[in-house]
Amino acid sequence: MLSHEKKHMEALRKHAAECVVLLKKDGQFPLEKPCKIALFGSGARNTIKGGTGSGNVYSRTYATAEAGLEKAGFVITTKAWLDAYAQDRANHHDAFIAGIKQDAANRGVSAFMAGFGKIEPEYDYSFPIEYEGEVCVYVLGRTSGEGNDRQVTPGDVLLTASEIRDILALNQRFEKFMLVLNVGGVIDLAPVADVKNILYLSQLGTVTGDILADILLGKAHPSGKLTTTWAKPCDYQDIGDFGDRNDTRYREGIYVGYRYFDSTEKKPLYPFGFGLSYTEFTLLIAGTSTDHVSVTVHNIGKYPGKEVVQLYISSPKGKLPKAYQTLAAFAKTRLLQPGESETVTLPVRLSDAASYCEECAAYVLEQGDYILRVGNSSRNTSPAAVLRLDKTVQVKKVRNLLGKPDFDDTVLTFSSRDDLSQTPVYPIHGDDLVPVICSYEIDRPIDPFVRALSDRELAYLCLGAYLDGTTGFVVGSSALHVAGAAGETTNRLPDKLRNRHLVMADGPAGLRLSEKWYRKEDGTALAAMEKMPDGLDEILPPEINKTIKETYDAIPKDQLQEYVTTAIPIGTALAQSWNLSFCEMCGDIVGAEMELYGIHLWLAPALNIHRSILCGRNFEYFSEDPLISGKMAAAIVRGVQSHPCCGATIKHFAANGQETNRYNNNSIVSERTMREIYLRGFEIAVRESQPAAVMTSYNLLNGEHTSQRKDLVDDILRCEFGFQGFVMTDWITTGKMYDPSSKHPGIFAHKVIAAGNDIIMPGAEPDFADLMRSLADGTLDREKLMICASRIYRMILYYA
Ligand code: BGC
Repeated sequence: MLSHEKKHMEALRKHAAECVVLLKKDGQFPLEKPCKIALFGSGARNTIKGGTGSGNVYSRTYATAEAGLEKAGFVITTKAWLDAYAQDRANHHDAFIAGIKQDAANRGVSAFMAGFGKIEPEYDYSFPIEYEGEVCVYVLGRTSGEGNDRQVTPGDVLLTASEIRDILALNQRFEKFMLVLNVGGVIDLAPVADVKNILYLSQLGTVTGDILADILLGKAHPSGKLTTTWAKPCDYQDIGDFGDRNDTRYREGIYVGYRYFDSTEKKPLYPFGFGLSYTEFTLLIAGTSTDHVSVTVHNIGKYPGKEVVQLYISSPKGKLPKAYQTLAAFAKTRLLQPGESETVTLPVRLSDAASYCEECAAYVLEQGDYILRVGNSSRNTSPAAVLRLDKTVQVKKVRNLLGKPDFDDTVLTFSSRDDLSQTPVYPIHGDDLVPVICSYEIDRPIDPFVRALSDRELAYLCLGAYLDGTTGFVVGSSALHVAGAAGETTNRLPDKLRNRHLVMADGPAGLRLSEKWYRKEDGTALAAMEKMPDGLDEILPPEINKTIKETYDAIPKDQLQEYVTTAIPIGTALAQSWNLSFCEMCGDIVGAEMELYGIHLWLAPALNIHRSILCGRNFEYFSEDPLISGKMAAAIVRGVQSHPCCGATIKHFAANGQETNRYNNNSIVSERTMREIYLRGFEIAVRESQPAAVMTSYNLLNGEHTSQRKDLVDDILRCEFGFQGFVMTDWITTGKMYDPSSKHPGIFAHKVIAAGNDIIMPGAEPDFADLMRSLADGTLDREKLMICASRIYRMILYYA
């Protein structure tokens, strides 16, 4: 094992149990020692370390549940069951691929388009389960990925009849039974809710199976908390649309996730913020003031553990509708031994609780009582203090931006549920709160070097390093110098830029590079792939597979090189740690590997909001809550950017909530909802970590592609949030991916640049032609191109 590989795996092994959420316990775990174990379930051998698509990070080894348990000394008694299951799945696979091809033929699209990101469901099966063991573990696996949304069907969000049957039977038969969820997002647990022990292991990258073994043996302690509400699929809000090909109306407004459940008093299976520990804790308010709450956490159980204290604010009823409560701060304790306690302090900034008033284009705190509640989940809190504001005040004045939807946001009403007679009240004087007035006049300097460039050179600088004759077809692989990197800035000005360019590689579950590669004579790097990953080879046109095979066959195998990178936990799992230093450490792991392999920009973290549990990419994202999302993203960015010449790219900006028709879907969202829910995490990440870059999303927002929205990119991101870096498009937004039957127009390079979105990635010939044409006919102002080119140039100077 290489030294960095070992170091990174050890660091993850030490801390990744922080991402794991114990949902149910009966006191039979942890086990005293390794023993005979009856191991079942789709995730037992085919353990999922992370989802598919550009978020799939390779690592040359990773621990499955089966391997992790065996390494830890368990003796698996169910090898025959695991073999039978694997065989059965392989038998179904061909029919699954045939189904995709048939669907493609029926729809008149390529199998690649029809099958990209399509997830093979789990099938019903029937094998004997009468095996011996001192303990039984059923590992239930689910994956998902880019390009497709999840379905409320058995084998995806729902459990199959076979899974329910076996889980319930094994739970009955074994005194010690644990259901382990090796899933990237919510599944419907209602049919197995009575199972004695449920551990949401999630997908932890390289160390997934090792962490399971450590937790079962009590060598590590699960201390994760949910960052998204787990409920029956039918209980989630269905006020707004999801999954429409053309237009998705976010009618639910601000009532996303727990904001909806808490405001309607609907009972989820497991609320936002929930997670048990092997041990037990008490929480005691130790002190309150206008700007903080201190809480003493005491470990009163038998095992070590960490607790997460959460602070929510309920705002007064006023003119603007509110959610019952919103998360305002959180703090995680250190590992507390039995009997130990720690006092944590949660800061309070009342202005963060302001609501956006569209009528006055300002963030407003309405007069009345702001109740600060403290607890260890959104459904287990008690009031700690009341901040009584004497008058309504505007805390930040902005402009009305982003357009208007064709509906009014939903308004939910609820009654107060608190007895506040014992709660201290602090008066707050509105006159003391100084409003921030946003300025939209900022410097957009043009570099003298850029000013001297020709039109062609300017255009090249604002396009990725595309090759002539290509359209950057293969997502996540359009870089010349590092195999498997997703893209680069241009190589067409070698003398002027002195051969410098920025290399960009994907995440977020680590650094996505090809495992094996080969340096060609001209100095460029070639991914040495025998076939495309994620089963894509099965649906790609035969000529592409042929080219991949011929390329691979021609590579001298004794000259193959290897990128050794570490798969870290998926985004949702990272957030479930509620531990900013752990997330910073994961960013640091990525940064160290970027330095090693010459990557300048990491295309992560991704912080879209879990608006619906069905979004196929939720596993890459953190949470249904913007505060968690922003804080986690900022921590990871800080870790990455602590390395010289390494920058992070937060994505996908913004309202990219579904994968269905992702290139041309229109998210229709009110300005208030955008600002309070979908933009807030980005704002926090920018303010707290100043990432090098931002990636705009594929979707349209209120009728215009986000990459072409000046109000989003320039006015909000730069002027309001203070973003200093550069903005790139998501991949292959122009040209080939545009489906001419779409309701909405495609994306044009000149409009992207006019909006202040600095570079079109990975770039393609039609983009170059479009820029040249628009400069010539005056549709694109040369000044605008020079502003964007200057930002790219400055970044190249700084990072490359
Ligand atoms: C994804 C991005 C990714 C890019 C480059 C796109 O399809 O949406 O998240 O960074 O590809 O691979």
